[in-house]
Amino acid sequence: MKKSILITGGAGFIGSNLVIHFVRKYPDYRIVNLDALTYAGNLENLKEIEGAPNYSFVKGDIADAALLEKLFGEYAFTGVIHLAAESHVDRSITDPLAFVRTNVIGTTRLLQAALQHWQGDFSDKLFYHVSTDEVYGTLGETGYFTEETPYDPRSPYSASKASSDHFVRAFYHTYGLPVVISNCSNNYGPYQFPEKLIPLVINNIREQRPIPIYGDGKYTRDWLWVGDHVEAIDLLFHKGRRGETYNIGGNSEWKNIELVELLCDLTDAELGRPVGSSRQLITFVKDRPGHDRRYAIDATKLQSDMGWTPKVKAEDGFRQTVQWYLAHQDWLDNLTSGAYRKYYEKQYAQ
Ligand code: NAD
Ligand code: DAU
Repeated sequence: MKKSILITGGAGFIGSNLVIHFVRKYPDYRIVNLDALTYAGNLENLKEIEGAPNYSFVKGDIADAALLEKLFGEYAFTGVIHLAAESHVDRSITDPLAFVRTNVIGTTRLLQAALQHWQGDFSDKLFYHVSTDEVYGTLGETGYFTEETPYDPRSPYSASKASSDHFVRAFYHTYGLPVVISNCSNNYGPYQFPEKLIPLVINNIREQRPIPIYGDGKYTRDWLWVGDHVEAIDLLFHKGRRGETYNIGGNSEWKNIELVELLCDLTDAELGRPVGSSRQLITFVKDRPGHDRRYAIDATKLQSDMGWTPKVKAEDGFRQTVQWYLAHQDWLDNLTSGAYRKYYEKQYAQ
């Protein structure tokens, strides 16, 4: 095997898209997926590659130092692509310490394990940390986040991701650990857990339930097709400059209400429902505390250094996403029963 790579969080949304991409594209890389299978982790996402000879799954916690020691010893990793995290802002508001535990302590344990095993020969090694644009805080009507924008996290989730980014940089400056960090905007596409806006809306439309829009619905996000994010990670994993940060974005800003109206129309068209019928499900609900008004990414550095630009146009990507969830209703049914119902009732109680 040419490389031995540890991918963490590979049973989650972006992680499973990334694992499938790497396992298929690089048959001469060993890919080890370490995932704790929290509520957000789902091995169903990985069915198409589970038997591949270059792939192994390990159920475990990134904060488990003994397990990391064992895995680094056994697989002699040359690279880590770190995605495992608690990732939902609303959950971070009700349980911030879970975010500290995984995103801060877990990331630091992983850094320590890599350092311990790579010290003395950093030459062909890389610790790639997948982070978010939310570390930069919030924007007004204009402007963009660049790699130089000062950190200003405002939710427990973004504070924990900002902290993890600081630890990754600290390991670079203090110990020379070879690292790359990327900060990406909102992803969408297959396998996203239906607590996040887009799959939640599609799920509620199919079930003809109210669609909850926080506040005035004019909050703005920059949406990126998950496959475009995966390609950027692939590029940066192979070519990113050590110690550098790269912003990744879709150049595709949508106010939540406009996006939700589009999803209603796309879903109605797919289901053959009368035009405009699902828009009637839209319900404005209590706002998210500390809700960041607008995110927008300036990805010029990634474009000029690596030649990367997003390939999938938003309207095509949103249509494909609606089609994917409607074609995978068993997948949605499995995730939206049991614990999800309890979460949903508590989260959306007015
Ligand atoms: P996700 O919640 O869908 O998946 C997270 C995965 O991590 C799950 O499979 C879960 O089981 C696993 N996990 C959680 N805690 C763990 C632990 N202690 N040990 C091992 N595994 C654990 O998240 P996602 O949306 O795929 O995000 C992946 C990464 O990308 C995160 O680091 C997130 O901050 C970052 N990110 C996400 C987005 C986005 O729009 N979704 C955008 C930018 C950056
Ligand atoms: O920007 C990158 C981030 O994008 C990632 O780091 C996070 O892991 C990811 O969850 C996402 O964070 P957001 O908070 O932007 O995503 P979410 O899907 O939760 O919400 C998108 C927007 O929709 C946000 O303005 C809140 C709003 N919203 C969300 C939900 C779940 C609603 O109006 N109603 C809802 O029910």
